[in-house]
Amino acid sequence: MQTVAVDTASPYRVHIGPDVLGSCASLVKRQTERAVLVTDRTVGPLYAGRVLDALAPLCRQTPLVFTLPASEEAKSGTWYLSLLSFLAEHRISRSDRLCALGGGVVSDLCGFAAATYLRGIRFVTLPTTLLSDVDASVGGKTAINLPEGKNLAGAFCQPEAVLIDTRFLSTLPDEIYRDGCAEVLKYGLLEGGELLTRLESAPLPDHREDQNLQSDIITECVRIKARIVSRDEHDTGERALLNLGHTLGHGVEQVSGFTIPHGRAVAIGMAAATRAAAHLGLCDPALVGRVERLLTAYRLPVRSPYPASDLLDAMYRDKKVSGDRITLILPKAPGNCIRQSFPVEQLAEVFG
Ligand code: GLY
Repeated sequence: MQTVAVDTASPYRVHIGPDVLGSCASLVKRQTERAVLVTDRTVGPLYAGRVLDALAPLCRQTPLVFTLPASEEAKSGTWYLSLLSFLAEHRISRSDRLCALGGGVVSDLCGFAAATYLRGIRFVTLPTTLLSDVDASVGGKTAINLPEGKNLAGAFCQPEAVLIDTRFLSTLPDEIYRDGCAEVLKYGLLEGGELLTRLESAPLPDHREDQNLQSDIITECVRIKARIVSRDEHDTGERALLNLGHTLGHGVEQVSGFTIPHGRAVAIGMAAATRAAAHLGLCDPALVGRVERLLTAYRLPVRSPYPASDLLDAMYRDKKVSGDRITLILPKAPGNCIRQSFPVEQLAEVFG
């Protein structure tokens, strides 16, 4: 098992490995009267039983379970309020604990409930997807969607601990695992060096089958995120680097009506950001081929199926762009990414 410290105002640790769940009681330590396990209809039947057994020494009463739909629909005001009502009906107090078992939807919603119920209650995350292992579960961004847009109501609220049991990944469909790989490759490009070389030399499915390699790669990604979040918890500067590939990727997700999943959209966004960097003369043009080869080796897309004009319409509608320039995270080289404004009218040259 490997452990990464996140040095935010309220610090915590992320534990990663193939039997983190078995050590849950000694890792979380503090016993509470009650706990509420928040999960979804896909993950609950697979893992809730095991997690409830592991949580048993941590609470004096049998934990309660609250189950969400296994889709983005769960990040709604309706499900948020229904979770809060469930907590209130069961008289959950500030000295009890919520536990989020699932992907980013579950941890975003459960974290937001934890941030706001009784003005704050402790919570632990047990991510079950690669995407949430390396992104959503760490860093304390919690949110729900509003009819007007994604993540419009939220709070920064750090968990008490993050328990990444990599055995949860064994039941993840290949398509979803691959989607999470896009976020892993983002860290490769942000960090460069050994992580990038490792990702280039052990493409999928190698690191899915090798538990040690998989844990090492996840740990490295968490370490990078923890370092950035520890320096910029509230996203006022450096944390924007984590948006590499996301600004354009978000536009792709939107234009597709969210039929292109997040990771694939980020892959398209990262390839376009690298082309944008080359277009501005910021990076060696050879980096474009290197990034495209890497994404392709993970069977991720590098070109948008939509023209830049559709993307721009969506981004203007979403207020992601105003005026004639767009701010992007661009790679000057692996391990050296910067925030840079890019002329909107030249997007068509790097996108699509
Ligand atoms: N997912 C980006 C961040 O945590 O800042």
